[in-house]
Amino acid sequence: MESIIINGKNKLEGSVSISGAKNAVLPIMAAALIPKGVSIISNVPDLKDTRTMVKLLEEVGAKVVFNNNILTIDSINAHNPEASYELVKTMRASFYVLGPLISRFGKVKVSLPGGCAWGPRPVDYHLKGLEELGAKITLDEGYIMAESEKLIGSEIEFDFPSVGATGNLIMASVYVSGKTIIKNAAKEPEIVQLCEYLVKMGANIEGAGTKQVIIRGVKKLQAADITVIPDRIEAGTFLIAGAIMGDITIKNVNPNHLTLVIRYLRAVGSEVEIKNNQISIKKSNKIKPINIETNVYPGFPTDLQAQWVSLMVLADGNSSIVDNVYKDRFSHVPELSRLGANLKVENNKILIHGVKKLKGAKVMSTDIRASASLIIAGLAASGKTNISRVYHIDRGYENIEQKFRGLGAKINRENN
Ligand code: EPZ
Repeated sequence: MESIIINGKNKLEGSVSISGAKNAVLPIMAAALIPKGVSIISNVPDLKDTRTMVKLLEEVGAKVVFNNNILTIDSINAHNPEASYELVKTMRASFYVLGPLISRFGKVKVSLPGGCAWGPRPVDYHLKGLEELGAKITLDEGYIMAESEKLIGSEIEFDFPSVGATGNLIMASVYVSGKTIIKNAAKEPEIVQLCEYLVKMGANIEGAGTKQVIIRGVKKLQAADITVIPDRIEAGTFLIAGAIMGDITIKNVNPNHLTLVIRYLRAVGSEVEIKNNQISIKKSNKIKPINIETNVYPGFPTDLQAQWVSLMVLADGNSSIVDNVYKDRFSHVPELSRLGANLKVENNKILIHGVKKLKGAKVMSTDIRASASLIIAGLAASGKTNISRVYHIDRGYENIEQKFRGLGAKINRENN
């Protein structure tokens, strides 16, 4: 098993280039299955999750080449409308092939997802939406079977603006005759880019990025090319590290996707400067505590909740963070306590008493973003921090140690 070893308290300075967005490229890769043709996707982060999705596309019968962050997906001979348990259990986002396979083949067999460790993560909105379009859904031995002789455009309303369900149902609707309206749709930038990509292929979609998306069925989509947007969660992760330890610049980002994150970083005392597609951050002498809540976009992203906690545990006073998206995404809390943080969970709220310093220790990764929060805390702690189960971090961050080493951190990976 590999661990990440950090010798903390080294100032971070210099600049780092942010990779393409994991949560944009995964649905885009699935969408490439809809038309018969060759799609070229650029600025693709080389992650475990993107490589899992490559395997999934190959299982469906597409030919995929992945070199130098460029994906070439040839879906001409895709023939197998099935996503196996072996692949889907390792990555929940595999469920994104549901919509594309329905559009391509009219039927699909996809394993129920697994993915991140924390809590149950249902897919009821995805299935209910497909049924409202007229699909016949059955569940057999952990597999979802969806048959759709003839889908009819209809009105779908989510109880919660689910990112995955919004993406899946838009992809399932591109050929559906008539008008499909998705109400309470997710507005995340990753969904906006998915819609841009589908429109480039010839889909008729209005309202991307608003809470009501309208899809009018078309006859045929053509393969298209696209460059993936920067990863706003990776960008936020480095900005939060900079707010504790440094004076750094992050490059190849879209500051418009980080408005609230930047506002909160300024509120805790960091100096933040925006210049085109770069953001510079300088830590303050004292981290001011603030109380925040996560929410769907454009709210504060739940995917930065764990990293934000690593900042607040060193604030000059008490603070809290409420996660309104996942009520149980707190597996980083006991690990941060091992580094000397003083915090506790009450329902879906973390109450934090700022401490003067953290001390290195052995800790364990539990999911992608919890791992990132432990790296940030390890960088701020005195002495040595050993983070085990780093396969979690490789799912969502490209070359993370190299990027932090490039900023002056003493961080490397060891087999143990
Ligand atoms: C996407 O997951 C992201 N993953 C997650 O990022 C992110 O945390 C999440 O959106 C919220 O922003 C990808 O894009 C690959 P949801 P997704 O459906 O689509 C409930 C990371 O770290 N829900 O928006 O699975 C669900 O339980 C990952 O990069 C239902 O109840 O999230 C949750 O409470 C982690 N029924 C809420 O909605 C459903 O059918 C939001 O989930 C679907 C969702």
